[in-house]
Amino acid sequence: MVFAAGNIRDAAADGPRRSVRPGPGRKRVQRQVETRAQQSADYVLGGSETELNRLRAQAEEYDEQARWLLDTVGIRPGSRALDVGCGPIGILRLLSEMVGPSGEVVGLEREHRFVELARYEIERLGLQNVQVIEADALSSGLESESFDLVHERLVLVNVPEREALLAEMLRLTAPGGFVALEDIDNVSWLCEPAHPSWDALLAVFHQAFRAGGGDPFVGRRLPSLLRDTSANDVQARLWAELPRPNQYRRTHLLSLVNSIRERILQMNLMSESELDAHRQALVQHLADPNTVVVEKLLMQCWGRKPAQS
Ligand SMILES: C[S@@+](CC[C@H](N)C(=O)[O-])C[C@H]1O[C@@H](n2cnc3c(N)ncnc32)[C@H](O)[C@@H]1O
Repeated sequence: MVFAAGNIRDAAADGPRRSVRPGPGRKRVQRQVETRAQQSADYVLGGSETELNRLRAQAEEYDEQARWLLDTVGIRPGSRALDVGCGPIGILRLLSEMVGPSGEVVGLEREHRFVELARYEIERLGLQNVQVIEADALSSGLESESFDLVHERLVLVNVPEREALLAEMLRLTAPGGFVALEDIDNVSWLCEPAHPSWDALLAVFHQAFRAGGGDPFVGRRLPSLLRDTSANDVQARLWAELPRPNQYRRTHLLSLVNSIRERILQMNLMSESELDAHRQALVQHLADPNTVVVEKLLMQCWGRKPAQS
């Protein structure tokens, strides 16, 4: 394992500072000066209340899959792990449990509001081995090769700079350590019986999402994207689900459309009244227990950084 040394600077130049208390045996995170020129595109789904609630619900429902992935890559007590684009919680809680008191977890997040919320949640849950830094993942300033595991979930799907983000994740991974990715592929996403409002809302969502640099079908590309880095032993697993009527993912399309509503309207993809009418119709259709929703695929992909870089 490789550990960073030096002083913690846990907020970007324009964000609030929080002094991180190194506990017994706790390692310190070193960051260098931010390079604004390397900033990536804005987060396509924004930092609204709607998006916050969506991310919290999503994190809860993907817990089982994330646990499986961490077990598979063999994250152990004492490990040092980074969750890139952790949002308001990501997998920080899970990582904290798995690395234990002798390990260390860092969450890296650019959206100021999510950083504050993640810190609040960490405090509330008493996760002593976790800290969150506010920075752009493309220019985090974290020390090279300082994490045994570098993970992202649902970040590559949103950012146009996928190769650059992966290169940065590899840079931060210790030789012999793992890079782990979790992203969706909307190829399977449908409802049965089909409904015109589902089709209309999914189409405008895809258009608006792509216009912001997102790729709703990135899941299938994870193995090749990871193989194009220096990672070895690249492996992948796909998950598909049938969300039940009371599950968050059953109405996920409605939440996503809410998060990206302003962009849809700005792009004149649909009028406000059309959007609301489709929404209302789809709420009813999805509330019917006889409607089946086939979830988008969740692709997990992981690989190891060669021992000698
Ligand atoms: C869909 S959310 C996923 C959040 C979390 N990983 C989870 O699975 O619950 C994507 C997150 O990536 C963050 N993000 C996007 N681009 C980023 C960047 N360049 N640097 C840091 N965070 C970024 C967003 O702010 C957002 O919180």
